[in-house]
Amino acid sequence: MDYTFLKACRGEETDYTPIWIMRQAGRYLPEYHTVRDKVTFLELCKTPELAAEVSIQPVDIIGVDAAIMFSDILVPIEKMGAHLEFREKQGPVFPSPIRDQAAVDRLGIPDPEDDLGYVMDTIRILRRELEGKAPLIGFSGAPFTLATYLIEGGSSRTFLNTKMMMYNDPGLYKSLMDKITDCTTTYLKGQIAAGVQALQIFDSWVGILAPCDFAEFALPYVNRIITELKKVSDIPIIYFANNGATLIEQSLTSGADVLGIDWRINLSDVVKRVDGRAAIQGNMEPLALFLPPDKLEKRIANVLEEAKGARGHIFNLGHGIVQQTDPEKAKLAVELVHKLSRRA
Ligand code: CP3
Repeated sequence: MDYTFLKACRGEETDYTPIWIMRQAGRYLPEYHTVRDKVTFLELCKTPELAAEVSIQPVDIIGVDAAIMFSDILVPIEKMGAHLEFREKQGPVFPSPIRDQAAVDRLGIPDPEDDLGYVMDTIRILRRELEGKAPLIGFSGAPFTLATYLIEGGSSRTFLNTKMMMYNDPGLYKSLMDKITDCTTTYLKGQIAAGVQALQIFDSWVGILAPCDFAEFALPYVNRIITELKKVSDIPIIYFANNGATLIEQSLTSGADVLGIDWRINLSDVVKRVDGRAAIQGNMEPLALFLPPDKLEKRIANVLEEAKGARGHIFNLGHGIVQQTDPEKAKLAVELVHKLSRRA
């Protein structure tokens, strides 16, 4: 089965523009809460039957063209040996941040099947249940974004500790990034072996870097992962550098097949700068889903128009869907993307 989403990733002609939504499996869906109310977030990630169930919900309920496995970018990091908690209203917390060589040396490289078997089982269940219905996207965080959580001990506003380590102790920073890169490469190879049909690498915080720091402290590690993955598989790889409008030319050298684009830039601009060297994914402002239907339709038509000339376009939001979104609006957006993009 050749799915529209996969064809668009490869830059092939499609009958319509496919759409999926970052964070599509989650709290804006009442059906997610029904499952989530019985378990903690990490338990949900670690119970393959339940993780598979919530991954399929957006395919069935809002009609997206691809499923993304339900997990979190920090799940493999926990298995490197860094204790992780998800706290209500605070999000992810690592109570013992990584700030010295001894702490880096204590981190291990988890084995996908032995240590992260629940993720691999989720993938296997999903491939069975999605057969003929939708392709499955696997994912990881990018090394820089993952490192910020480990170094800061959680989310951050200034990323002070991360930048201090980069500038004051580049050897320590590099040894941490090397380890996260090895962990991520192994983990993504495991996901490929378990059956994912595309991969997205989330670089949620990379937009806080100056272009020269991106070149030195973030991009080479993404490039290393993609180079290794391309040796074992030709599934499409999407690199999403959030807030990365200034980093597009550099991001193209990552080796990704698709660049994920946030909403702070016009896609027409991106199409010109990418110039057929990758497919593009994005980029409607997530809160545009709060517009009334007629204005939402115009917004979607505009994104589709701007993407014309791209070598492959996958519609998405410019970042994750927010919790307060009306699921009916998300469903309407999917229908509108399909209707407005249908080729005669
Ligand atoms: O996209 C999907 O539908 C698949 C599932 C998915 C989740 N997290 C589930 C989740 C994916 C792909 C992620 C990636 C992720 N996790 C990122 C990169 C994407 C992005 O948004 O930039 C990041 C930075 C994280 C780290 C993370 N996880 C944070 C900061 C938080 C707390 C903030 C929040 O949104 O609550 C999480 C928790 C989380 N991950 C939830 C979900 C559904 C909410 C948990 C709950 O049910 O209470």
